[in-house]
Amino acid sequence: MLEIDPQSTDSITSVSLDAYWMPFTANRHFKQNPILISGAKGAYYSTPEGEQIFDGLSGLWCCGLGHGRTEIVDAVSKQIAQLDYSPSFQVGSTIAFELADRLKQIAPENLNRIFFTNSGSESADTSLKMARAYWRTKGQASKTKLIGRSKGYHGVNYGGISVGGIGGNRKLFGSGLDTDHLPHTLLKENAFSRGIPENGVALADDLEEIVTLHDASNIAAVIVEPFSGSAGVIVPPKGYLKRLRELCDKHDILLIFDEVITAFGRTGQAFGAQTFDTIPDILNIAKGLTNGTIPMGAVIAKDMIYAAFMEQKLPEKAIEFPHGYTYSAHPVACAAALATLDIYEKDQTYARVRELAPYFENAIHQLKGEPNITDIRNIGLAGALEFTPKGGDPTLRPYEIFRKCFAAGVYVRCGGNTIQIAPPFIAKEKEIDNLFNILGDAIRATAS
Ligand SMILES: Cc1ncc(COP(=O)(O)O)c(C=O)c1O
Repeated sequence: MLEIDPQSTDSITSVSLDAYWMPFTANRHFKQNPILISGAKGAYYSTPEGEQIFDGLSGLWCCGLGHGRTEIVDAVSKQIAQLDYSPSFQVGSTIAFELADRLKQIAPENLNRIFFTNSGSESADTSLKMARAYWRTKGQASKTKLIGRSKGYHGVNYGGISVGGIGGNRKLFGSGLDTDHLPHTLLKENAFSRGIPENGVALADDLEEIVTLHDASNIAAVIVEPFSGSAGVIVPPKGYLKRLRELCDKHDILLIFDEVITAFGRTGQAFGAQTFDTIPDILNIAKGLTNGTIPMGAVIAKDMIYAAFMEQKLPEKAIEFPHGYTYSAHPVACAAALATLDIYEKDQTYARVRELAPYFENAIHQLKGEPNITDIRNIGLAGALEFTPKGGDPTLRPYEIFRKCFAAGVYVRCGGNTIQIAPPFIAKEKEIDNLFNILGDAIRATAS
């Protein structure tokens, strides 16, 4: 257990904060003002000082079932004792096949081929490579351009940031892949929409302009999140994803859904594809696959994609898709995933999300009228508040709100000009009330 010394500039006496270069963190500020977590159970974290913090973002959108689920802990402990690691190149662990088959049963129609990764970022880059290689196997090697969307987030690797649309995540890193971007779907007239907004289906038609500019013969794929999570729960307008699907079909362009946040219940179904009634050609997952416990992701491809690789005119012993990771299909992650999928089924988790979602929607929209809020958005058990800048800085107010909330016992995420909320699926109504009471107090306290 860490010891906190409030007199020390480092605050921590037994552990130095120096060496750890923290991801997506203002390191200099953090190390002067650390926020530390030392345990978690159910919907709560505990701090080294023994405070309980409600997990208002399900970790980083990944721990919907809450923390410390004994079924997952037991499965992982058993697996690590039985098979702690297995190579996955030219050899396969039985549990990997078991998990792939299980995912195939759950995934939407024709999405039957599972390629394992270790994170959402790896899923993004794997899917982009798969899309480009697919066209090459079909003899259409010029189809390489990748189309993302403004404000989209597809992780932090070079493919992901190239199709990604959050400027701050790209500007330091130089040129990426050959991409273009659809416009985002945030429209003023949709501000304060409850659930799926009414206006803006025509924004999908911008794909026609992109096709006119580059020609479909040069475009491999469009990648979008069913709703943009990291940019602050930007829910696409009614009919938008269906329209994108139609246009991709019309122009022979693959459609990739990045469901790293939306898969496994966040929208009230197993996949966002089901909530939005639109089936992609490739579907990326991570996070909720193991309830956040062990890093794991996957790319789920349609049969036709797998078939294109298998039907290449190659010797039988040639590798059809030269791609993969040392930890692809890690047996311990597979065990965590199988136990997690069991719980989703046994607890009827997605039905629980659908049941709680209207309560959550009412609660978040009660904040309308609080100072500096310019938009409130929600779907399923995900929501975001957008704020006016403070002192010219759009990120400052959400950061201050996040810190105030944590100090008051609730963890929410600040991202850009938004506060993001994604409570665990096991949350109770009174915990949702408490979250929004604390959030409301923090918004007023930072209103100046
Ligand atoms: C849609 C989406 N794709 C990819 C990622 C990246 O996942 P990871 O951080 O596991 O690499 C995220 C993470 O939030 C995400 O929301």
